[in-house]
Parts: sequence; C-alpha cells; structure tokens
Amino acid sequence: MAAAARQRRPPRAGRRRSSETDGGGAAPAGGFDADAAIGVSLPWLGTQNWKEADEFFKSQLTEAGFSPIVQAADNKVPQQQQQIEAMVEQGAKVIVVGPVDGTQLGTVLETAQNAGVYVLGYDRLIENTTAVDGVVQFGSFRTGELQGQSLLDGLAERKGEGPYNIEFFAGGPADPNAPNFFEGAMTVLQPKIDDGTLVVGSGQTEFTQVATQDWDNSKAQARMDSLLSGFYSDKQIDGVLSPNDGIARAIITSSQQAGQEVPVVSGLDAENESIVSIWEGTQYATVAKPTDALVAETIRIIQSLQSGAGLPEPSEQVNNGKKDVDIFLLDPIVVTKANIEEVFANDPSRLELLK
Ligand code: BGC
Repeated sequence: MAAAARQRRPPRAGRRRSSETDGGGAAPAGGFDADAAIGVSLPWLGTQNWKEADEFFKSQLTEAGFSPIVQAADNKVPQQQQQIEAMVEQGAKVIVVGPVDGTQLGTVLETAQNAGVYVLGYDRLIENTTAVDGVVQFGSFRTGELQGQSLLDGLAERKGEGPYNIEFFAGGPADPNAPNFFEGAMTVLQPKIDDGTLVVGSGQTEFTQVATQDWDNSKAQARMDSLLSGFYSDKQIDGVLSPNDGIARAIITSSQQAGQEVPVVSGLDAENESIVSIWEGTQYATVAKPTDALVAETIRIIQSLQSGAGLPEPSEQVNNGKKDVDIFLLDPIVVTKANIEEVFANDPSRLELLK
C-alpha cells in the first residue's frame, strides 16, 4: 500500500505546467483541476475553533475556486470513517481531517490515498498510518508549554508568594493533541513541583488521571467539584492547568460554587466567552490559535498540490508511529488582560467583546 501511495506522488522537480499538457482546463501534471472537490472532515463542532473551521473552510475554499464538502463527525469514529469514504466516492482530490481519534482512521485513509487522494491532518496529528501527506497545526507541545508558563505567571501575579496549591486537567484521551498539550505544560511545571513551589493537593499528576473524556466540559466540572470537596474543603486552591477555554470556565464555575476565590486558570482557543472573562479579570489566560490563519495555511498547501508542485517545504517532521510526517506550523499566542487588545487589534468580532 505504501508503495502504491509513493508511486502516485508527483515528482518534486521537472513537472510540466498545465499549459504544456493539453491546453484546456485539464489538471496539471501531478496536480488536479482548479475547481476540484475538497473534503474536510472535522471531529465535532463542540468548541468555537471547530465551528469557525466549519465556516472558514466553506468560505475560503469557495473563494479559492474549489468545491468544498465540509462535515463534522459529532465525536464519533464510525461517523467520521463513513464521511471520509463518501468524500472519496464524491471525487474529492484532497481530504482534510481533524481526527476524532488520531489512531482510528488508518484503513479508510489508506483507501483514500490508494484512490489518489491527498490526505492532510488539520489541527490534530493523524497517527499510526502512512496514509497522511502532511499536518497543519499550531505546535501542540508548544501550546502546552505556553499554558504551563501562563499558569506560573498568573500565580506570581495574582496569588502572592508560593507555595501554590494547584490541580491539573487535560483534554480528551483520543485526541493526539491532549497528551502533547499536557506534556508541554509539564516540562514547565514539573520542576516547580519538584522544588516545592507547586503543590498538587490530590496528587493526580498523570495524564490518565487528569484527562477529560471527549473534552466534555460537564465531566471536567464534575471532577473539579469532587477535587474541591475531597481536598480543598479547608484550604484555598490557587491555580488550575486547563487544556482549553470550555474546561477553564467549568473549573471556574465549580470553584465559585464551592465558595473559593477564583483560581488562576489557563486556557486555549480564545473563545468569545473566555475573552469576556479575561477582560473582566476572571479567567487568567488563554492561548489563541487563530482559525482563519490555520485554514488559510491549509488552503495554501492544497493550492500547491493542485498546481502539481507537491507539498511546500514543511516546518518539521514528526513521527506518527508509522512514518515521519511533514508538519506545517503556525505560532500560538498567549493572551492575558495585559495584551488582549493588542492581540485582537485586527479581529473586529473579538475586539467588539472588550467594550
Ligand atoms: C483543539 C482545541 C479544542 C479541542 C476540543 C483540540 O484538538 O486543538 O482547539 O479546544 O480539540 O475541541
């Protein structure tokens, strides 16, 4: 299968331009028609970033002249597999995938690749298969480092001298980003646990102990409720590592309901409700990874494939268990009350929230 996939790849140099093939609007050698169908399979629409991706892929692909087929899988692996199969049948030339589960798409993506379809991971890595041509994302390890650092900065800024009582939350275990976010944060936080600056009241410091099934905010809130009643009935909790904004707000709500002073909480996605919360001084930080830029970068790669030029130069390669995958990286940005107006200076809809 891998050999077939490799043969189908266009050579990186010496390709003919479309005008040299047969003139009329035919696909360039190694490329495909400029109005081709492009499939986009998103994992769910449960957080703002995925809703934005749904909108931006539809509008930006249309603007670029392609025919978009954009669907979301409601966090269900079989639904995502069926949607991808249907996109192959509908003649998609590229399928962009944000996997529900990074490891469960090998078979369907190998079928797609053998049919000559390019496969691009979007935001999340696609694991354990050779059937992926590249992945476009904000570095997930880097994102975690920024989350860990923002928690430390917030503690110093808002909670006086340490030691600080903290707890950890991570995202959905099927999402390959979730362990990477957590590991990235731990590279910053573990030394501070070791030197006594941070104290984890529950002792829960393993990814498997702190993960939140399906990124479900209500599950995170229930876990926070029991952490607070179990370990913090007689003391203050100072900070919580949160993997995204939805979970951050669940943690804050739980803390307020337990009569705690709001702990310093990190986040991710720059969701509207968290922008407001940060502006009001409640949630401490988020990490922005602007969806419009990530979609635009994905389309730049699709256009390169369409023209027959193959993939552009990647930022790095990451081993997915089966191959070294080309990764195209954008930079995530920490957002706090101090820089929020500056970060969103060119984002009118978010700027509007700061009134
Ligand atoms: C994305 C986050 C999102 C989370 C839950 C992750 O893979 O990177 O932006 O909050 O999924 O939807």
